[in-house]
Amino acid sequence: MSLKIDNTRTKTALLLTAFVTPALLAQQTATLNVDLNRPKSPVSPTLYGLMTEEINYSYDGGLYAELVRNRTFRADWSGILNWFLIENGASSAKVSIDSKQGPSAALSNSAKLEVIKADATSPAGLLNEGYWGIAVRPSTRYSGSLFAKSDAQTTLPLKVALVADQSGQVLATTSVPVAGAAWKEYKFEMQSGNAPASSENHLEITIDRPATLWLQLVSLFPPTYHGAPNGNRIDIMEKLAAMHPSFLRFPGGNYLEGGNIQTRFDWKKMIGPLLDRPTHPTTWSYHSSDGMGLLEFLMWCEDLHMEPVLAVYAGYSLGGQVVKPGPDLDPYVQDALDEIEYVTGGVGTKWGALRARDGHPAPFKLRYVEVGNEDNFDRSKSYDGRYAQFLKAIHAQYPNVSVIATMPVKEVTPDVVDDHYYKREQGMFELATQYDKTDRNGPKIFVGEWATREGTPTPNLGAALGDAAFMTGLERNSDVVIMASYAPLFVNVNPGGMQWSTDLIGFDALTSYGSPAYYAQVMFSSCLGDHTVESTVSGTGDKFFYSVTASANSKVCVKLVNASSTQQAVTITLSGLGSGTHTALLDTLKANSTWATNTISHPDRVVPVRSKLTVKGERVEHLLPAHSIQVLEIDR
Ligand code: AHR
Repeated sequence: MSLKIDNTRTKTALLLTAFVTPALLAQQTATLNVDLNRPKSPVSPTLYGLMTEEINYSYDGGLYAELVRNRTFRADWSGILNWFLIENGASSAKVSIDSKQGPSAALSNSAKLEVIKADATSPAGLLNEGYWGIAVRPSTRYSGSLFAKSDAQTTLPLKVALVADQSGQVLATTSVPVAGAAWKEYKFEMQSGNAPASSENHLEITIDRPATLWLQLVSLFPPTYHGAPNGNRIDIMEKLAAMHPSFLRFPGGNYLEGGNIQTRFDWKKMIGPLLDRPTHPTTWSYHSSDGMGLLEFLMWCEDLHMEPVLAVYAGYSLGGQVVKPGPDLDPYVQDALDEIEYVTGGVGTKWGALRARDGHPAPFKLRYVEVGNEDNFDRSKSYDGRYAQFLKAIHAQYPNVSVIATMPVKEVTPDVVDDHYYKREQGMFELATQYDKTDRNGPKIFVGEWATREGTPTPNLGAALGDAAFMTGLERNSDVVIMASYAPLFVNVNPGGMQWSTDLIGFDALTSYGSPAYYAQVMFSSCLGDHTVESTVSGTGDKFFYSVTASANSKVCVKLVNASSTQQAVTITLSGLGSGTHTALLDTLKANSTWATNTISHPDRVVPVRSKLTVKGERVEHLLPAHSIQVLEIDR
């Protein structure tokens, strides 16, 4: 496991055999016999990855680092959402939506601020509340931009400021000179002072004289991961990096399908300048800024060395709208082919050239395309025909792309089938053997969504035990299960932030934390051999799970899960390890109760503890604590 993980404590140089006292040996000792000389089946290098969609404010108010909420001024009956009028002192102003004035076809309206009375001591303007506040950290640079025009005869200075909610203290500020009656983009920077980090802040944009000002696309970013413009939150990206993910399945999930065809993930409306992205309502009851568009997903992949698993809209939306296979579906198939070309095409292709225009001339590698999402919900039973139509078209143009089906189909043989599981702990224990008897001559399996659903907003230790048990089964069967990704990945823990409970990583505007289930994944993915080996176990209870993988001449990875409330002694024999001494790392995640968990204010209650060990010879007397997950990595 990466030692970069927050709060992972390290112990040093213990002998594994030293764990076992005579009293412990008196209890039932299980036997785990591993034969390293008998490789069994390959382990997929892409076994562990990420699944993501816009749910639980995953991007807006989450990974996507934009601080301004509703930067495009959507309004409902109550007024402009998330924006409020400021009338300081004797100033007077009003704000409305001007549906006739906007800087682009996609953003064809704007906020019209009419300041009737204002001066330097009584400015008027607008306030944005952010996503449950705006995080301001000391000595930090904030980069902003906005589109504006005004009716003022001379240059109109806008004061932009980050302001503390309680004290009213200005934490960072700058002046933006708006000149003229034509739409123009203005970029600005502000630097915070030394006030302590907090999210109880908001953004203010004020003017100190009577004038009418039109605003659109008001944006503000803190420093982002790798300094990318329009980029991602550093703390969350670092948590993902610690999971060593090999792929990213995007953009859904239900978010891909949309409630209807109109509100699907329409990728062509989510590329290029933000000004050309109209934004859209999601299936998860809130609106997406679409700042996280197709290229941003791909750059997220690039940042974390993940390969994209691109899900394309397949003619079925959640509300039940279906596009019939045949000519009706052709435009959607073409859309998918265009999308693949945007991802993989050279700069000489139509869509590859657009990707270059958008700032990324180099094509991305793409090996997997998924057609739709959970099409078993399609009551018209049209998926067989829809999938076959996509498969044939994609294979004809991209013979090396594997096309994933979202359910079993009969009309053609799918390359890969995506299975989803959401269960309680007991259900996941049962699923640990799900793939033991799967036909090895059939399609490969992608477990594109799975989770033990216990704990809210994020999973508890019991859920982590269910997850770990399930993952031992994935590893044992990774010759057929080539990829797996937990879902959902993220949740904004603020009231109203969550639409789906039990999510791997929680955050608010300021910080983020990993659940026990997150740490189970960090541990499992940190030691993944390239093959399984023959092994047998006896004498354990029914809440004991394990897997053993190895890589030739380098390491052995033993994963042990004791989901029972009593400790378990195990004699582990590793035939073929050799009679010398071997250094090893032991990572342990445990708690006294399955209900133990981490929260945004207590992020470190259940975290892995690392020990360095020396294994002497091929036999290890080991004691597995109650309610524990352990990963033992032994150098060969
Ligand atoms: O992960 C949450 C939702 O569960 C996904 O959007 C959907 O694919 C599944 O039903």
